Amino acid sequence: MNVNGVRERTLTETPDGRAVSIVDQTLLPDRFEHLRLEDIAATASAISRMSVRGAPLIGIAAAYGLALGLRDDASDAGLDRAIKLLISTRPTAVNLRWALESVRAEVAPLPESQRFSEAWATAGRMAEEDVAACQAIGRHGAVLLESLQQPRRDGGRLNILTHCNAGWLAAIDVGTALAPVYFLHDAGVPVHVWVSETRPRNQGLLTAWELGAHGVPFTLIVDNAAGSILQSGRVDACIVGTDRVTRNGHVCNKIGTLLKALAADDAGVPFYVAAPSASIDWTLSDSALIPIEERSAEEVRGNANTPVLNPGFDVTPGHLVTALITEYGVCPATEEGLASLVPEARLKEEKLLTPVPPESTAASRWK
Ligand code: MRU
Repeated sequence: MNVNGVRERTLTETPDGRAVSIVDQTLLPDRFEHLRLEDIAATASAISRMSVRGAPLIGIAAAYGLALGLRDDASDAGLDRAIKLLISTRPTAVNLRWALESVRAEVAPLPESQRFSEAWATAGRMAEEDVAACQAIGRHGAVLLESLQQPRRDGGRLNILTHCNAGWLAAIDVGTALAPVYFLHDAGVPVHVWVSETRPRNQGLLTAWELGAHGVPFTLIVDNAAGSILQSGRVDACIVGTDRVTRNGHVCNKIGTLLKALAADDAGVPFYVAAPSASIDWTLSDSALIPIEERSAEEVRGNANTPVLNPGFDVTPGHLVTALITEYGVCPATEEGLASLVPEARLKEEKLLTPVPPESTAASRWK
């Protein structure tokens, strides 16, 4: 995407081939600055403190982090240690596990001397595949959203509501949920985005910043305004990203997504989820088993004595999702829908991913 007229990606390899350069998202929207990550420790720390964030970007950053780890120790034990460190950075986005296991599958059969270069090249391929997947989601989503033109009330302008940031900052480029918006805007279709603030980390400010930088009209709203805005007919469609979609179509995304889906359902507004195949967890049907990140109380409270619960994500059941938009096309948020659309990817993932042991005994709500 363009920032101040300069073509930017969220993560690039440095010219010396010894590090990656990231946009430090903890400084946005106030400052646009890059940060050099030279080793696995710096990469793991950047993911944990959310200098890089958003499911697709977390995955690619971790793949590069693993390569940097292998440059220092390419032994089998080093590989295991590096994956253990990186996977502990954030628990919810399945892209992290997918990326690390993909790199492991490429490098494990190789002699140690070749592991760093192969891991680095694999991470680079993943970055390009992410861009291509986001562009495909943009194309599919744009067709879908344009087909909603008829019921538009706002002088022909398409009004989209989104939550969190699933734009280019959350991927390598283009983004997932915002990709169709950029496609439509660039094609001259009048579009306006309601941007939900996304307490407590305010990722909505990132969305506002990137939409503004690209010239897409938007309005920032507090999270609790979404219900009444949906009810009043000022939204034609909701579109959000995801950190993990179960194989039967339940969608884990930033906390607050579920409330928007419920409000959209009541208002009769379609609720779409942009889901690259790397965000689909083929090993999981029971959404109660998704590890939900619990974040620090300091993000919420002003008083050190106040009890706080701060879950980072929630799960929207598939029946509240009008459709999933993947790089392969649009499908219902069901097991059949996903399986019909991405059979090859499914096979690949099933080979790659070993089922995760249950981390929660919570009753399954939407099996
Ligand atoms: O905690 P974050 O900012 O990493 O959460 C990001 C989201 O919830 C996004 O909606 C999701 O990762 C999809 S990004 C394309």
